[in-house]
Amino acid sequence: MMFGYNILVIGSGAREHAIVRALDKSDQDKEIYCLASNMNPGIAELCDELTVGNINDPDFVVSYAQEIAATLAIIGPENPLANGVADALWGASVKVVGPKKDLAQLETSKTFTRDLLKEYDIPGGPKYDTFSSMDGVAEFLNELGENYVVKYDGLMGGKGVKVAGDHLHSHAEALAYCQEMVDSGDGFVIEEKFVGQEFSLMSFCDGDNLKHMPAVQDHKRAYEGDTGPNTGGMGTYSDVNHSLPFLSDSDIVEAHNINLATAKALKDKFGEGYKGVLYGGFMATANGVNLIEYNARFGDPEAMNVLSLLESDFIELCHAIADGTLNQTDVQFANKATVCKYAVPEGYPDSPIKGEPIDVSDISNPNGLFYASVDIQDGQLVEAGSRTVAVVGVADSISEAEAIVEREVSAVKGPLFHRSDIGTDGVVQKRTDHMNSLHSEC
Ligand code: AMP
Ligand code: GLY
Repeated sequence: MMFGYNILVIGSGAREHAIVRALDKSDQDKEIYCLASNMNPGIAELCDELTVGNINDPDFVVSYAQEIAATLAIIGPENPLANGVADALWGASVKVVGPKKDLAQLETSKTFTRDLLKEYDIPGGPKYDTFSSMDGVAEFLNELGENYVVKYDGLMGGKGVKVAGDHLHSHAEALAYCQEMVDSGDGFVIEEKFVGQEFSLMSFCDGDNLKHMPAVQDHKRAYEGDTGPNTGGMGTYSDVNHSLPFLSDSDIVEAHNINLATAKALKDKFGEGYKGVLYGGFMATANGVNLIEYNARFGDPEAMNVLSLLESDFIELCHAIADGTLNQTDVQFANKATVCKYAVPEGYPDSPIKGEPIDVSDISNPNGLFYASVDIQDGQLVEAGSRTVAVVGVADSISEAEAIVEREVSAVKGPLFHRSDIGTDGVVQKRTDHMNSLHSEC
């Protein structure tokens, strides 16, 4: 193509469906390509081409990018970032939204992130120590008492994290988990447990400048009432004012400042800036905002909330991230509330069924439907074993958005389940009551 942009999206879940939809909305002259791990019919419909291949192999990704003469790439998931796909694409003169491997350590190494915050005096970090043997483990657990978290030091999709009271019920259990990691040669972090309400605050970052997105709250547990095993995220909501009902203005400012200080620290440390989405996972506590973790990409489902609200041209925004011109770019989100819910296979996450047909034909707003872990078998849409489809509602209040999503997600037929409680008045009020009770205790 002589004019316009050839844009490559890497990844094929609901997050990438949201990315492709946001790109497609732009009036710019463009062709959109997707390198996918699975056949996502929603992405395929919007793209010029969807190719299934190994998205974690930098050589393969570069050769595909060259074949389609890509000018810009957007990397959705963390594994390609961890494998240096961004480095390889920049090396082949493709602009990239998504940090290089060294900078992506913010997500790939818990130790790296904790040490970075400490080195640069960034507030929000817990008391912590890193270990590769049992030396000092019992002593440090004693120092933390009952408020501790043990984290495997690498990418585990959240499953390497064990929290006192939730997953670990005594120091003996904690010691056994640590011993398991020592025996398999893995490093780990033990840190202070924060008590409060979690929220995600993602910022677009061009290396120097940040533009913040609306705050979002995810629900990690599989079942109603925040029970059951941890998942990639069952659903999310965001509010009209881009804050959350349980957050104060100063909580939002603190989260913005931590993201900004982290971006500056990365630039100082590596001599080049972080270009992509900086996703802070925060805990609002009675003593202010603490950082739980960073991710080096859009959240999933958070991407569906924020990109459904984005009013600015997403292609222009992606170029500004890659070119370092975010400070000259106006980034606007609609003042609406969003709720997103995932429908997941029966048995998810521990023993999900696979290959069963699903039917989305009763969905009334196809633009609010995002395909994730699905496949096409004999012309039939089937579940592929992980989170299957996400549905988003946008309205003037969380409550109204929730009602829309609940109707829509219930219209998806097949052996699936979803959390009907996410975004309901009762659950949102419980979050606010919890924060209020923490504040009144201090
Ligand atoms: P991570 O993979 O670091 O996001 O951890 C997964 C989940 O463990 C988080 O979403 C929190 O619910 C919980 N968690 C991690 N670190 C802490 C902490 N320091 N205090 C309380 N909860 C935590
Ligand atoms: N929503 C959690 C994640 O994207 O990691």
